Amino acid sequence: METPRLLDGQVAVVTGGAAGIGGGVSRMFAASGATVVLNDVDAELAAAARADIEGAGGAVTTVVGDIRDPETVDRLHAAATDVAGGRVDVLVNNVGDFRPNAWFLDSDQEHWDGQYAITLEHVFRCTKAFLPIMVEQGRGAIVNNSTVEAFRGIPRNTVYSAFNAGIVAFTRSLAVEFGRHGVRVNAIAPDMADTLQTPAEWMLGGRDPAMLRCWIPLGRFGDPQDYARVVLFLASEMSAFVTGVTIPVDGGTLAAGGWYGRENGRGFTNFPEHP
Ligand SMILES: NC(=O)c1ccc[n+]([C@@H]2O[C@H](COP(=O)([O-])OP(=O)(O)OC[C@H]3O[C@@H](n4cnc5c(N)ncnc54)[C@H](O)[C@@H]3O)[C@@H](O)[C@H]2O)c1
Repeated sequence: METPRLLDGQVAVVTGGAAGIGGGVSRMFAASGATVVLNDVDAELAAAARADIEGAGGAVTTVVGDIRDPETVDRLHAAATDVAGGRVDVLVNNVGDFRPNAWFLDSDQEHWDGQYAITLEHVFRCTKAFLPIMVEQGRGAIVNNSTVEAFRGIPRNTVYSAFNAGIVAFTRSLAVEFGRHGVRVNAIAPDMADTLQTPAEWMLGGRDPAMLRCWIPLGRFGDPQDYARVVLFLASEMSAFVTGVTIPVDGGTLAAGGWYGRENGRGFTNFPEHP
Protein backbone atom coordinates (compact mmCIF):
# COMPACT_ATOMS: atom_id res chain seq x y z
CA MET A 1 0.00 0.00 0.00
CA GLU A 2 1.57 3.33 -1.04
CA THR A 3 1.78 5.94 1.73
CA PRO A 4 -0.16 9.13 0.89
CA ARG A 5 1.82 12.40 1.28
CA LEU A 6 -0.37 13.53 4.17
CA LEU A 7 2.40 15.25 6.16
CA ASP A 8 4.23 16.99 3.32
CA GLY A 9 6.60 19.65 4.70
CA GLN A 10 5.65 19.02 8.32
CA VAL A 11 7.92 18.41 11.31
CA ALA A 12 7.00 15.36 13.38
CA VAL A 13 8.56 14.24 16.67
CA VAL A 14 8.34 10.53 17.54
CA THR A 15 9.55 9.11 20.88
CA GLY A 16 10.80 5.53 20.80
CA GLY A 17 10.76 6.00 17.05
CA ALA A 18 13.40 3.49 15.98
CA ALA A 19 11.71 0.09 16.28
CA GLY A 20 8.34 -1.55 16.87
CA ILE A 21 5.24 0.61 16.55
CA GLY A 22 7.28 3.83 16.84
CA GLY A 23 9.63 2.53 14.16
CA GLY A 24 6.66 1.95 11.87
CA VAL A 25 5.38 5.45 12.62
CA SER A 26 8.73 7.16 11.89
CA ARG A 27 9.18 5.33 8.60
CA MET A 28 5.60 5.95 7.49
CA PHE A 29 5.68 9.62 8.54
CA ALA A 30 8.87 10.14 6.50
CA ALA A 31 7.26 8.41 3.51
CA SER A 32 4.27 10.74 3.94
CA GLY A 33 6.54 13.78 3.52
CA ALA A 34 7.35 14.75 7.12
CA THR A 35 10.78 15.58 8.47
CA VAL A 36 10.95 13.14 11.37
CA VAL A 37 12.71 14.00 14.61
CA LEU A 38 13.23 10.56 16.04
CA ASN A 39 14.11 9.89 19.67
CA ASP A 40 15.24 6.46 20.82
CA VAL A 41 17.23 5.08 23.72
CA ASP A 42 18.94 2.51 21.46
CA ALA A 43 21.66 4.10 19.31
CA GLU A 44 21.96 1.09 16.97
CA LEU A 45 18.23 0.88 16.31
CA ALA A 46 18.12 4.66 15.77
CA ALA A 47 20.96 4.43 13.23
CA ALA A 48 19.13 1.61 11.42
CA ALA A 49 15.91 3.64 11.29
CA ARG A 50 17.84 6.62 10.00
CA ALA A 51 19.43 4.49 7.26
CA ASP A 52 16.03 3.09 6.25
CA ILE A 53 14.39 6.52 6.11
CA GLU A 54 17.25 8.23 4.26
CA GLY A 55 17.59 5.22 1.95
CA ALA A 56 13.96 5.71 0.97
CA GLY A 57 14.57 9.42 0.30
CA GLY A 58 13.07 10.70 3.58
CA ALA A 59 14.30 13.30 6.05
CA VAL A 60 15.18 12.43 9.65
CA THR A 61 17.09 13.72 12.66
CA THR A 62 17.89 11.32 15.49
CA VAL A 63 18.17 12.15 19.18
CA VAL A 64 19.53 9.21 21.16
CA GLY A 65 18.59 9.15 24.83
CA ASP A 66 16.19 7.87 27.45
CA ILE A 67 12.97 9.85 27.15
CA ARG A 68 12.46 9.49 30.92
CA ASP A 69 15.43 11.81 31.34
CA PRO A 70 14.48 15.54 31.21
CA GLU A 71 17.81 16.26 29.51
CA THR A 72 16.75 14.03 26.58
CA VAL A 73 13.52 15.99 26.25
CA ASP A 74 15.55 19.23 26.19
CA ARG A 75 17.77 17.86 23.41
CA LEU A 76 14.72 16.60 21.50
CA HIS A 77 13.16 20.04 21.75
CA ALA A 78 16.36 21.71 20.56
CA ALA A 79 16.72 19.30 17.62
CA ALA A 80 13.08 19.64 16.57
CA THR A 81 13.02 23.42 16.72
CA ASP A 82 16.26 23.52 14.73
CA VAL A 83 14.71 21.69 11.76
CA ALA A 84 12.31 24.30 10.38
CA GLY A 85 12.81 27.55 12.24
CA GLY A 86 10.92 26.43 15.33
CA ARG A 87 7.84 24.81 13.77
CA VAL A 88 6.63 21.47 15.13
CA ASP A 89 3.44 20.02 13.68
CA VAL A 90 3.12 16.56 15.21
CA LEU A 91 4.18 14.90 18.47
CA VAL A 92 3.84 11.14 18.93
CA ASN A 93 4.33 10.05 22.55
CA ASN A 94 5.02 6.39 21.85
CA VAL A 95 7.32 5.05 24.59
CA GLY A 96 5.88 2.60 27.11
CA ASP A 97 6.65 -0.89 28.45
CA PHE A 98 4.41 -3.49 30.05
CA ARG A 99 7.21 -5.91 30.96
CA PRO A 100 8.06 -4.91 34.53
CA ASN A 101 4.88 -6.59 35.83
CA ALA A 102 3.93 -7.86 39.29
CA TRP A 103 0.95 -9.12 41.25
CA PHE A 104 -0.40 -6.01 42.90
CA LEU A 105 0.36 -7.19 46.47
CA ASP A 106 3.97 -7.84 45.42
CA SER A 107 4.33 -4.40 43.83
CA ASP A 108 6.00 -1.61 45.74
CA GLN A 109 6.87 2.07 45.56
CA GLU A 110 9.80 1.35 43.22
CA HIS A 111 7.51 -0.51 40.78
CA TRP A 112 4.88 2.23 40.89
CA ASP A 113 7.49 4.96 40.33
CA GLY A 114 9.05 2.94 37.49
CA GLN A 115 5.72 2.43 35.76
CA TYR A 116 4.85 6.10 36.17
CA ALA A 117 8.18 7.09 34.63
CA ILE A 118 8.00 4.79 31.59
CA THR A 119 4.28 5.21 30.89
CA LEU A 120 3.03 8.65 31.83
CA GLU A 121 5.59 11.13 33.18
CA HIS A 122 7.51 11.54 29.90
CA VAL A 123 4.19 12.06 28.11
CA PHE A 124 3.51 15.03 30.39
CA ARG A 125 7.09 16.30 29.97
CA CYS A 126 7.20 16.03 26.15
CA THR A 127 3.72 17.48 25.79
CA LYS A 128 4.67 20.41 28.02
CA ALA A 129 7.78 20.95 25.88
CA PHE A 130 6.06 20.94 22.46
CA LEU A 131 2.52 22.16 23.14
CA PRO A 132 3.47 25.88 23.49
CA ILE A 133 4.91 25.75 19.94
CA MET A 134 1.63 24.29 18.61
CA VAL A 135 -0.45 26.86 20.50
CA GLU A 136 1.71 29.65 19.06
CA GLN A 137 1.24 28.19 15.55
CA GLY A 138 -2.51 27.78 16.13
CA ARG A 139 -2.24 24.18 14.91
CA GLY A 140 -0.76 20.85 15.83
CA ALA A 141 -1.55 17.20 16.45
CA ILE A 142 -0.51 15.05 19.39
CA VAL A 143 -0.93 11.26 19.23
CA ASN A 144 -0.34 9.24 22.40
CA ASN A 145 0.18 5.50 22.68
CA SER A 146 -1.90 3.73 25.34
CA THR A 147 -3.06 0.09 25.31
CA VAL A 148 -6.29 -1.91 25.17
CA GLU A 149 -5.52 -2.71 28.81
CA ALA A 150 -6.62 0.81 29.69
CA PHE A 151 -10.12 -0.53 28.91
CA ARG A 152 -9.80 -4.25 29.67
CA GLY A 153 -8.53 -5.68 32.95
CA ILE A 154 -5.18 -7.50 32.91
CA PRO A 155 -3.89 -9.45 35.92
CA ARG A 156 -0.27 -8.77 37.04
CA ASN A 157 -0.35 -5.44 35.18
CA THR A 158 -2.63 -3.39 37.42
CA VAL A 159 -0.23 -0.46 37.74
CA TYR A 160 0.62 -0.48 34.02
CA SER A 161 -3.05 -0.47 33.07
CA ALA A 162 -3.83 2.31 35.58
CA PHE A 163 -1.18 4.61 34.12
CA ASN A 164 -2.31 3.75 30.57
CA ALA A 165 -5.88 4.66 31.53
CA GLY A 166 -4.22 7.92 32.64
CA ILE A 167 -2.98 8.40 29.07
CA VAL A 168 -6.54 8.00 27.77
CA ALA A 169 -7.89 10.51 30.30
CA PHE A 170 -5.01 12.92 29.68
CA THR A 171 -5.70 12.68 25.93
CA ARG A 172 -9.37 13.48 26.42
CA SER A 173 -8.94 16.41 28.82
CA LEU A 174 -6.03 17.96 26.93
CA ALA A 175 -8.10 17.79 23.73
CA VAL A 176 -10.85 19.80 25.41
CA GLU A 177 -8.41 22.33 26.83
CA PHE A 178 -6.54 22.96 23.55
CA GLY A 179 -9.11 22.44 20.80
CA ARG A 180 -9.68 26.20 20.71
CA HIS A 181 -5.98 26.64 19.92
CA GLY A 182 -6.19 24.36 16.89
CA VAL A 183 -4.37 21.52 18.62
CA ARG A 184 -5.90 18.04 18.35
CA VAL A 185 -5.00 15.30 20.84
CA ASN A 186 -5.79 11.65 20.20
CA ALA A 187 -4.41 8.23 21.08
CA ILE A 188 -4.21 4.66 19.91
CA ALA A 189 -4.74 1.59 22.10
CA PRO A 190 -2.70 -1.25 20.59
CA ASP A 191 -2.81 -4.97 21.21
CA MET A 192 -1.10 -7.95 19.59
CA ALA A 193 1.74 -6.05 17.87
CA ASP A 194 4.53 -8.27 16.61
CA THR A 195 7.42 -6.12 17.92
CA LEU A 196 10.61 -6.44 19.97
CA GLN A 197 8.52 -5.98 23.13
CA THR A 198 5.97 -8.64 22.22
CA PRO A 199 7.38 -10.86 19.44
CA ALA A 200 4.90 -13.14 17.68
CA GLU A 201 6.75 -16.25 18.88
CA TRP A 202 6.55 -15.12 22.50
CA MET A 203 2.84 -14.32 22.17
CA LEU A 204 2.19 -17.72 20.61
CA GLY A 205 4.12 -19.46 23.40
CA GLY A 206 4.48 -22.67 21.38
CA ARG A 207 0.83 -22.76 20.31
CA ASP A 208 -0.22 -23.66 16.81
CA PRO A 209 -0.38 -20.40 14.78
CA ALA A 210 -3.72 -21.69 13.46
CA MET A 211 -5.03 -20.71 16.93
CA LEU A 212 -4.83 -17.08 15.82
CA ARG A 213 -8.15 -17.39 14.05
CA CYS A 214 -9.84 -18.24 17.39
CA TRP A 215 -7.85 -15.77 19.42
CA ILE A 216 -7.90 -12.56 17.35
CA PRO A 217 -11.03 -11.68 15.35
CA LEU A 218 -8.94 -10.55 12.36
CA GLY A 219 -6.91 -13.74 12.64
CA ARG A 220 -3.35 -12.39 12.75
CA PHE A 221 -0.88 -10.38 14.79
CA GLY A 222 -0.40 -6.68 14.01
CA ASP A 223 2.50 -5.40 11.95
CA PRO A 224 4.00 -2.00 12.99
CA GLN A 225 2.48 -0.59 9.79
CA ASP A 226 -1.03 -1.48 11.01
CA TYR A 227 -0.55 0.89 13.97
CA ALA A 228 1.39 3.50 12.00
CA ARG A 229 -1.46 3.92 9.51
CA VAL A 230 -3.86 4.87 12.31
CA VAL A 231 -1.30 7.22 13.88
CA LEU A 232 -0.81 8.85 10.45
CA PHE A 233 -4.57 9.29 10.14
CA LEU A 234 -4.74 10.92 13.60
CA ALA A 235 -1.71 13.13 12.88
CA SER A 236 -3.00 14.38 9.54
CA GLU A 237 -5.82 16.54 8.25
CA MET A 238 -7.67 13.32 7.37
CA SER A 239 -8.87 13.47 10.99
CA ALA A 240 -9.31 17.27 11.12
CA PHE A 241 -12.59 16.97 13.09
CA VAL A 242 -11.44 14.24 15.48
CA THR A 243 -10.03 15.01 18.93
CA GLY A 244 -10.00 13.49 22.40
CA VAL A 245 -10.46 9.90 21.24
CA THR A 246 -8.46 6.69 21.69
CA ILE A 247 -8.74 4.23 18.81
CA PRO A 248 -8.14 0.55 19.59
CA VAL A 249 -5.76 -0.96 17.01
CA ASP A 250 -5.98 -4.58 18.05
CA GLY A 251 -7.44 -6.80 15.34
CA GLY A 252 -10.66 -6.81 17.35
CA THR A 253 -9.43 -8.25 20.67
CA LEU A 254 -11.03 -5.53 22.77
CA ALA A 255 -14.35 -6.12 21.09
CA ALA A 256 -13.97 -9.86 21.63
CA GLY A 257 -13.49 -9.73 25.40
CA GLY A 258 -10.69 -10.19 27.90
CA TRP A 259 -9.05 -12.43 30.40
CA TYR A 260 -10.77 -15.42 32.06
CA GLY A 261 -9.84 -17.34 35.16
CA ARG A 262 -8.99 -20.96 34.37
CA GLU A 263 -11.56 -23.57 35.49
CA ASN A 264 -8.96 -25.21 37.73
CA GLY A 265 -8.46 -21.90 39.52
CA ARG A 266 -4.77 -21.70 38.56
CA GLY A 267 -4.14 -18.33 36.97
CA PHE A 268 -5.79 -16.76 34.01
CA THR A 269 -6.17 -17.41 30.33
CA ASN A 270 -7.41 -15.42 27.40
CA PHE A 271 -7.32 -18.42 25.12
CA PRO A 272 -10.44 -20.23 24.00
CA GLU A 273 -9.07 -23.68 24.91
CA HIS A 274 -8.98 -24.89 28.53
CA PRO A 275 -5.44 -26.18 29.14
N1 LIG B 1 3.35 -4.49 21.41
C1 LIG B 1 2.05 -4.42 21.70
O1 LIG B 1 1.23 -5.28 21.35
C2 LIG B 1 1.55 -3.25 22.52
C3 LIG B 1 0.31 -3.41 23.14
C4 LIG B 1 -0.18 -2.34 23.87
C5 LIG B 1 0.56 -1.15 23.96
N2 LIG B 1 1.75 -1.05 23.34
C6 LIG B 1 2.47 0.20 23.50
O2 LIG B 1 3.01 0.65 22.25
C7 LIG B 1 4.25 1.34 22.49
C8 LIG B 1 5.33 0.74 21.64
O3 LIG B 1 5.38 -0.65 21.87
P1 LIG B 1 6.28 -1.62 20.99
O4 LIG B 1 5.70 -2.98 21.15
O5 LIG B 1 6.47 -1.04 19.66
O6 LIG B 1 7.65 -1.54 21.83
P2 LIG B 1 9.13 -1.98 21.43
O7 LIG B 1 9.79 -2.27 22.74
O8 LIG B 1 9.10 -3.05 20.40
O9 LIG B 1 9.74 -0.66 20.80
C9 LIG B 1 9.89 0.49 21.59
C10 LIG B 1 10.89 1.45 20.95
O10 LIG B 1 11.09 2.49 21.91
C11 LIG B 1 12.45 2.53 22.32
N3 LIG B 1 12.48 2.85 23.76
C12 LIG B 1 12.19 2.03 24.78
N4 LIG B 1 12.34 2.68 25.96
C13 LIG B 1 12.72 3.94 25.64
C14 LIG B 1 13.03 5.08 26.41
N5 LIG B 1 12.98 5.04 27.76
N6 LIG B 1 13.39 6.23 25.79
C15 LIG B 1 13.45 6.27 24.42
N7 LIG B 1 13.19 5.21 23.64
C16 LIG B 1 12.82 4.06 24.25
C17 LIG B 1 13.00 1.15 22.00
O11 LIG B 1 14.41 1.16 21.83
C18 LIG B 1 12.25 0.80 20.72
O12 LIG B 1 12.86 1.37 19.58
C19 LIG B 1 4.51 1.23 24.00
O13 LIG B 1 4.02 2.39 24.64
C20 LIG B 1 3.70 0.03 24.40
O14 LIG B 1 3.33 0.05 25.76
C21 LIG B 1 2.28 -2.08 22.63
